[in-house]
This record gives sequence, structure tokens and C-alpha cells, in this order.
Amino acid sequence: MCGIVGILGKSAVATQIVDALKRLEYRGYDSAGVATLEDGGRLERRRAEGKLGNLEVKLSEAPLSGAIGIGHTRWATHGRPNERNAHPHATEKLAVVHNGIIENFRELKEELQAEGVRFETETDTEIVAQLVTKEILKGKSPVEAVAGVLPRLRGAFALAFLFAGEEDQLIGARHGPPLAIGHGEGEMYLGSDAVALAPFTDEVTYLEDGDWAVLSRHGVQIRDLKGRPVERKPQRIPSGTFMAEKGNHRHFMAKEIYEQPEVVGRTLAHYVDFATGRVKLPATLPFDFKTLKRMSISACGTAYYAGLIAKYWFERLARLPVEIDVASEFRYREPPMDEGELALFVSQSGETADTLASLRYAKAQGQHILSVVNVQTSTMARESAAIAPTLAGTEVGVASTKAFTCQLTVLLCLAIAAGRARGTLSDKDEAELVDELIRLPGLMAEAFKVEPRIEALNRDLARATDVLYLGRGTSYPLALEGALKLKEISYIHAEGYAAGELKHGPIALIDEDLPVIVIAPHDHLLEKTVSNMQEVAARGGKIVLVTDARGAEEIGMDTLATIVMPTASPTVAPILYALPIQLIAYHTAVFMGKDVDQPRNLAKSVTVE
Ligand code: M6R
Repeated sequence: MCGIVGILGKSAVATQIVDALKRLEYRGYDSAGVATLEDGGRLERRRAEGKLGNLEVKLSEAPLSGAIGIGHTRWATHGRPNERNAHPHATEKLAVVHNGIIENFRELKEELQAEGVRFETETDTEIVAQLVTKEILKGKSPVEAVAGVLPRLRGAFALAFLFAGEEDQLIGARHGPPLAIGHGEGEMYLGSDAVALAPFTDEVTYLEDGDWAVLSRHGVQIRDLKGRPVERKPQRIPSGTFMAEKGNHRHFMAKEIYEQPEVVGRTLAHYVDFATGRVKLPATLPFDFKTLKRMSISACGTAYYAGLIAKYWFERLARLPVEIDVASEFRYREPPMDEGELALFVSQSGETADTLASLRYAKAQGQHILSVVNVQTSTMARESAAIAPTLAGTEVGVASTKAFTCQLTVLLCLAIAAGRARGTLSDKDEAELVDELIRLPGLMAEAFKVEPRIEALNRDLARATDVLYLGRGTSYPLALEGALKLKEISYIHAEGYAAGELKHGPIALIDEDLPVIVIAPHDHLLEKTVSNMQEVAARGGKIVLVTDARGAEEIGMDTLATIVMPTASPTVAPILYALPIQLIAYHTAVFMGKDVDQPRNLAKSVTVE
């Protein structure tokens, strides 16, 4: 992951670099650093362990005044997250920042060590700095040196170089993770994405895979993998695209949880014709649902759980068999795929390395590629034959919330469209489902009434060392999502299970200290789930039941707490029940004093595998 920035400015750029890095902190916050060229082209850098605030302190104590510089916010892969391993890495000739992994760094390091090069850090990035320096010391220009080194690097990386004495030149390279070039007036910028560059310019050129670029204050020359000059068209990024403020909320996560009725409504307005009560897909799909024999879904983390819920919908509503896998397994499993079928990918960022690699694999297998993405300028969006955008807006909190419910909303609309095309849903079925969807934002707003009940559980959950989440049908992926949410922001160990699996092992964990969160809206599986709850209660487990009024009445069991949700149809229930699941994790983590927006060890966009 990591965020990288480069600026060729007119006056001191360090503050601008830090501002841009703040917009990239979602990519990691283990350490940060800036390097600039000071008087006479001398390289200077400031680095600090931890979040950007620490770097700001260092810069205020020892400011940098150079008008050209690069910066980095790190998510550690190679080497501990301390100041020594913080980017930029530098020699007397250059400084470099890096996002990604240089996979052959061991052999390159051994080669350099055999030649007497001494390394200061444990990072793979320092190898790049040393290799390019070696070429410069042989008399090559920075451009020649970079051109000579890039083909030697294996892995996925984006790089930005700053050279001692070169006050009008930055070099950027993309091999995997994205890199964008910003065009200003007499100024030029480099950034991991357009979000970082938004305060400076709305004109952005995305490098394509294998591209590298030489920037001066007056323009950019882009070359492809083979060193041939290529043209890449700049794009205008509409103003306001990336704006995100916390408003009156204490955390971005809270704000994003509360935004859900609005953004789900906005997404629905894009996919549903309210007048006719029909689903209308915003783009013409390059395939016909009717003729598909099967489809595959792959994604990571929360997006994967959205895909898992969608599997239930596509199979039930459209009778379309769905194979689903986490992208990190799918890509290396290399599954056989019949040509002409549909491969669907789900991603908030559109940059997740494993999902992108899976997309490319499926494309090579002759699949129709459809991506459900939130960032419409992302690499996945650009590489897909069609996209179904989620209109969640910028999601800042590392824990995905509103992106998840918007993904579910889009996936349900796609499943309904598939059902119609395949003749498994009638006009009436579609109208009923659309009606349920239309009522959803209102139900979501109403659901926030359960918040005080959830907040009151803080103490019990915060005391637990483990928490179990159970559900059946579409509540099972929701149980997995609930456990993920709690783990990632509170650091309490949690597991999600299909309720029916309990007796095959996890029941051994149940005792008086184990909270068991059961997601059980009133549906055709309720009775079965109740049996599993009885098994938990018989062993002294503390049950937190999330259900609706009818479910609560029918279950009628003693629980630690029963959260009574508004009544929704079983089909849309998983979208509604995402809210209490998110609130449970949020309030527990806040009560425990955790950094819910930037939990330890995580990053919002996972561009390494
Ligand atoms: O950007 P993506 O949707 O592809 O990201 C996938 C996962 O990394 C992401 O959902 C992750 O699991 C979240 N932190 C969960 O809250």
C-alpha cells in the first residue's frame, strides 16, 4: 500500500506534500517522510515514525524550503515501522519513495552487498535507491539510470525519484499500483491517486501499467515498458469528487454509518425507475443474463462478504449458479472458466491488488468483466468492460460501512435484473422487490433507534476476549462481516459462523464469558436458528439477539440483549441488518479507546498482495 507524492512547485513544497499525504493516509500510517532539494540542489529529508502529525512536528522544528520534493506515508511490508525504515530512502545522489513490493529484493541486495554497498534499512526500497545510484555513479543521467534499473525489478510497485542537483525533474514509474500525474500552471505533480492531487489540480493523467514518466515544471514525457514514448490522455476530475468532512461526528466511521440511508437512496435512484417500479441498469451490459450458464464473483474483505450475500440473491432470484472466492485464492487457483460467462468483481477502492489480478485473469479467460466499484476513476473501473457504480461517496474510515450497503444495493438490483432477463421473476415479483428496496432508506433511518441499546452493550463486549457471530442464509455472510468489523477496529478476536455449523466444532468454545451475537430476522430459517440459540443458552453462552418484533416474539428466549429492528422483507434484510452490526463494532471500539478510523496495521486501499 503506502501513498506517494511528488511536487515540482514554484516555492517551498513541503507543506503541500504533507497536505497531499494527509489525503493518502488511508493507504497506511506506519511512518511518513518528505525529501526536498534545498539550496544548490542538496537533498534533505525529514522522517518520523507513526502518523503524519509526528512528521509535521519534525518539519516545524526543522523546516524544509525546497521547491521540488517527494513524500510518503507508509504501510510497512519489509522492515519494522520505525523512522530508520521510513521513506524517502536516499543516497547522496537521489531520494526515492515506493508503494508496493520489490519481490526480487533479496537477490538484488546480495548482488549489491557483494560489491560493497552497505544498507541502512531493512526495506526493499533501499535496493532501488542503491541500484539507480550505481548507474549514476557510472556516469549515466538520472533518466538513463532509471531506464536501466526498472527492467531489473520484479513485483508490483509505484516509484517516485528526486535527484540531487536536478531542480526541474522528477521521475515516476508504475508497475502495478496506480500512479497519477497532475498538471498545474508551471507546476507538476505526482500522486498515488487523484485524491492526493485534488487540492492542486483537476487535470490528471493516469499512467498505465508499465509506464514511467519524466516530469519537469512544463510538462511530462511518458514512456512505456519498452522505453517507447507514449501519449496518455489527461482527464478532468469533477470538482468536489473527493470531498469528505467529518461534520458533527466524532469519527468518519460514525458519519459514514449515519450517511447510509442517504447514499443507499442515491444509489437506488440510479438503479431503479421509481415511476415504473422497475430496475434500470445505468449501463448497457456487454452480455445477456439470459444466456449465462454461471457467473463468478471475487473480492476481498467486506466486499467479498457483499459478494457472498449476492450469491444467495443471484441463485434464488435468477436461478443463476454463482461461484465465489476471495480474490487472493481465486487468482492463484486459476479456475477453469467457460468462455463468454460473467466474472463480477466487487471493490470499494477499485485498486485492491488481488481483486485486480483476478479481474485480469478472468479477462484472459474470455469472461465478460463487470465490476461493482465505488471509485469510478480506479484501475478496476478502467479495465472492466462494464461497471456498476456504487454511489457511496468517499469512504474515509478504514472499516468499510456505507460502501458495503451500497454494494449490496447494487448487487440486489443486478440480481433482480438477472431474474427478469432469465424469466425467473415476473413483473409482479420485480415490482414487489423494488417496492421493498424503495422503503429501505426509510427503514435504515428508523433502525438508528436501536443505537442506545447497542451502546449499552459496550462494557460486556469490551470485556470479552472472543465473540462469536451466528447467522443462517444471508445472515451468515453478515455474521462474517460483523466479526470482521469487530476484529479490525476493537482488536477483539471474533468469528462468524453459519449457525448450523456450530455443533461441528465451535460449540466447544461456549461458556459464560463468550458473547454470541445472533443475527436472525424473521424468515423461513428462524426456527432453525432458534434451535442453535438453545444450544448456546444450554451451555451458558451470553446471547445478543438481533431480530425484528415478530422474531423477538417467536423466539421468546432470555438473552443478554435483544435488539429489535424495524420489519423488512427477508430479501432486503441483510442491507438493513448491516447497521446494527456496524454500530456494535463502532461503540465497542470507541468505548475501548481505539482509533476507529485508522486501526492499527490496516490501510484503506490494499494495493499489495
Ligand atoms: O477496496 P476494496 O473494497 O477492494 O477493499 C477490500 C477490503 O480490503 C476491505 O473491504 C476491508 O476488508 C475493509 N477494511 C473491511 O472493513
